[in-house]
Amino acid sequence: MRSEGALILGIETSCDETAAAVTAGGRTVLSNVIASQIDVHKVFGGVVPEIASRHHLEAVNGIVSEALAQAGVGWDDLDAIAVTKGPGLVGAVLIGLATAKGLAFALGKPLVGVHHIRAHICAAYLEHEQLAPPFLALVVSGGHTSLVEVTAGAAGTQVRLLGATRDDAVGEAYDKVARVLGLGYPGGPEIDTLAKRGDPAAVSFKRTLLEDGSLDFSFSGIKTGVMNYVHTQKQADKPFHAADVAASFQQAVVDVLSEKTRLALEQTGHRRLVLCGGVAANSALRARMQKDCDGRDVTLFVPSPVYCTDNAAMVACAGYEAFQNGDFDNLELDAYAQLAL
Ligand code: KG4
Ligand code: ZN
Repeated sequence: MRSEGALILGIETSCDETAAAVTAGGRTVLSNVIASQIDVHKVFGGVVPEIASRHHLEAVNGIVSEALAQAGVGWDDLDAIAVTKGPGLVGAVLIGLATAKGLAFALGKPLVGVHHIRAHICAAYLEHEQLAPPFLALVVSGGHTSLVEVTAGAAGTQVRLLGATRDDAVGEAYDKVARVLGLGYPGGPEIDTLAKRGDPAAVSFKRTLLEDGSLDFSFSGIKTGVMNYVHTQKQADKPFHAADVAASFQQAVVDVLSEKTRLALEQTGHRRLVLCGGVAANSALRARMQKDCDGRDVTLFVPSPVYCTDNAAMVACAGYEAFQNGDFDNLELDAYAQLAL
């Protein structure tokens, strides 16, 4: 099968971004089109699943056509259609999946269902030609916080979950804290910006590290700590500085992520680290991880912010490996709200 430079169309609709992209040979991005629904969901303070599905349905055909046009690629040029099959909002995932199935059937092209978290890890391949397994990946997104070992296969055919959050994902904690501070949705970028004007040592929020040697995470304590602090200050009619709270919360989160990653690197001996997922767009986290890695002789690979948050280039990249292996799905492929790595 011809796979060198194969053209893969990627489709991503698992949350509130309708995205389509075309990659050549997995890693060369020919187009990366993203229609964000942020403005639609902002008024509700979070993603409303039914509204997300409806907007995906309205946008997806235009976004896919745009991705082909920007790539200068015709339908017949495509070698495979890759699509996020989960985990995600199941009604939203279904829209991308139905679109991909329709295209695969009509064009007679292979269909490849992609795991969303594996796709986030693959985002690191897009701009780093020299990246190859084995490596450690810290995945920080709105729905996941995981430490993953990738031992073989560009798209991580061999991955091992080393640790994951036991309660809130880190992005979820950012979004909830932002809401308590009266900031907009999504909260991550708002806190990132506000924290730059605050003192990270102003309030000491408890860093939850769980049992000795554990690579799991827990962020609900930090989140509740911020909520309690804000409510106590308000009840006592005491002023508080939102920028200081944002910076202190972020410092606690970054400290925990840094410590768990240090432990994972120590336990596994990996010398390459991938930082990915929406929260990897965070400026403080990127800076801290770079500093940590420089001090430990570990090479850090972080996608540009546009490839950290949801996009379809990462889906096409993950689909490329499956395509190379002839690992195709049929038209009965399901959408999954939850999906093991
Ligand atoms: O990966 P992603 O786009 O979607 C999921 O798969 O969940 O991640 C979205 C999450 C949201 O919680 C958002 O607040 C967070 O990523 N995020 C950030 C930043 N940009 C996006 N968090 C902190 N700092 C940022 N700059
Ligand atoms: Zn995501």
